[in-house]
Amino acid sequence: MAILRITKHGEPILKKVSVPLAYEALRPDLPRLLKDMWTTMYAVKGVGLAAPQVGLNLRLSVVDARPEGKAQRLVLINPEIVAGEGVMFEEEGCLSLPGVFARIKRYARVRIRALDARGRPFEMEGAGLLARAFQHEVDHLDGKLFIDHLSFAEKLKVLSLIKDLRRDWT
Ligand code: NI
Repeated sequence: MAILRITKHGEPILKKVSVPLAYEALRPDLPRLLKDMWTTMYAVKGVGLAAPQVGLNLRLSVVDARPEGKAQRLVLINPEIVAGEGVMFEEEGCLSLPGVFARIKRYARVRIRALDARGRPFEMEGAGLLARAFQHEVDHLDGKLFIDHLSFAEKLKVLSLIKDLRRDWT
């Protein structure tokens, strides 16, 4: 069990489109990797963590939005948003942008399709925080951070804030 270093805004891997995870090829390494990702995510009280955030170019994320305060561990392998409806406009943050928060527009409800930790396909609907986490995680796998949803003017403001914050990032 290890706490992995989380990559930060400005590191090239966060801008890359991650490659699909070949489940059978990775199966022997997956339990260990997932354990480390959970440990890392819970250590910093995150809601989700994507493989590029631990330096791996793979379409894999873990999410725990803790519905009703209880753990709900979701492993998303090769996830896709297959449907979205409604709009929410809520404050979002990201473990790769510590100290940065901004309100962005997301679907209020989404349906996601992915493989689970055992390689079995599943579909699931999410609303609220879970819907946001699904969209945020798929964005990571497409090389996008939440600030990429901001207008040009808002993004400029955030980028100047990041310049100051970056000194404290590890
Ligand atoms: Ni994030």
